[in-house]
Amino acid sequence: MLKRGYKSNQRNAAHNCRVSVLVMFLTLMLMLVVLYVLLQTVGEEKYTKTMNDSEKLSLAHELPNPKQKWNTFDSFVQFHPTKEFRNGTDLIWQVPESSPKGVLFVAHGCSGRAINFWDQSPECPDCIGLPEERLFVLHALAQGFAVITISSARRCWTYGKEVLLVENIIEWWISKRKLENLPLMALGASSGGYFVSVLATTMKFSSIAIMIAEGMFHKMDIKRDYPPTLFVHMPKDFGRQQKIDEYVDILKDKEIDVGVVECVEFPLSPNTLSDRIPGIDQNLSGKLFEFFKEKGFVDQNGYMRRDGRVIKWKKALEEKKTVSLDKRLVPHIQEELNLAFAYHEMTSVHSDQIFKWFESHIN
Ligand SMILES: *[C@@H]1O[C@H](CO)[C@@H](O)[C@H](O)[C@H]1NC(C)=O
Ligand SMILES: *[C@@H]1O[C@H](CO)[C@@H](O)[C@H](O)[C@H]1NC(C)=O
Ligand SMILES: *[C@@H]1O[C@H](CO)[C@@H](O)[C@H](O)[C@H]1NC(C)=O
Repeated sequence: MLKRGYKSNQRNAAHNCRVSVLVMFLTLMLMLVVLYVLLQTVGEEKYTKTMNDSEKLSLAHELPNPKQKWNTFDSFVQFHPTKEFRNGTDLIWQVPESSPKGVLFVAHGCSGRAINFWDQSPECPDCIGLPEERLFVLHALAQGFAVITISSARRCWTYGKEVLLVENIIEWWISKRKLENLPLMALGASSGGYFVSVLATTMKFSSIAIMIAEGMFHKMDIKRDYPPTLFVHMPKDFGRQQKIDEYVDILKDKEIDVGVVECVEFPLSPNTLSDRIPGIDQNLSGKLFEFFKEKGFVDQNGYMRRDGRVIKWKKALEEKKTVSLDKRLVPHIQEELNLAFAYHEMTSVHSDQIFKWFESHIN
């Protein structure tokens, strides 16, 4: 009896124990869910607040479909860059013919180079002109900004000596071109965004824009004279968006003007690639679009199902054989696919808002 009772008690105890573990587990899960929902709500409130605060900009979602075509700026400006070599790296720049209103330094992301921002030309035979980079620079030139691009020493930017080196190069170039009296601005994408956020602690910018990056604000001592900062980001990258929300508050606590521009996904159309990429005609663009649909890379409504970097579209296209593609255009197409998916890519879609930001902070 005793034995059995003991046994059954033991079994009960084990059972109870299992039940209480289960209950504890469920409670914990419930708490996590509640916490998550709470955080989400707080995040949303913060975000709405952020958007409401910046009154200089209309932060309403624009139609996400890119309206600029690769040749939109043809009647305003042409590429005539100058390429130079200094301190072990290359800089490529162009100053608008009639009185420039500012100097804009643009920093690429990892694996980027200065040559990505400019079309191939006699002045720059090895330039590549990626669709978003080139459109952004054309827009800047058309708006009257002198543009300077510099290549990072390594694959990505580093935040030690390279900061001083780039500062030296920019200052040397500005004094050589006699542009000292113009306001200085910077835009950096991804690794370039972190870099610009650090560069702004030593160089005097009238404002900066940090694209698809949250910046290094957790590692820097932000002074009150830190420049007005615009975050241009893709909220699909949720982790980054949360960090940006956090850093927006850090900057606001120091009374630094902050703005946020969101870039969201957009559907591809048969003409998207020919609209955005010089060297792709409507015929090829339409064929590629049909091919992406056929392969399921793009859904019924034209939206990318996954990031362009993840899908094996190049291999699939090689196997298909009926669409022939100049290999040099692969990075250009890849960039537009990533952009349409809107997780992490350089973008010129919101250039209007970026230049409004720069202009509204020229004293
Ligand atoms: C947004 O800002 C405006 C102007 O400062 C203010 O009048 C309005 O109440 C704010 N809206 C919200 C929802 O906070
Ligand atoms: C960059 O190059 C210039 C000219 O060659 C040189 O005077 C300067 O010291 C270099 N700066 C750095 C940081 O290496
Ligand atoms: C696309 O080009 C091919 C070959 O140049 C041609 O045969 C075909 O008719 C064109 N298609 C369209 C839709 O223009």
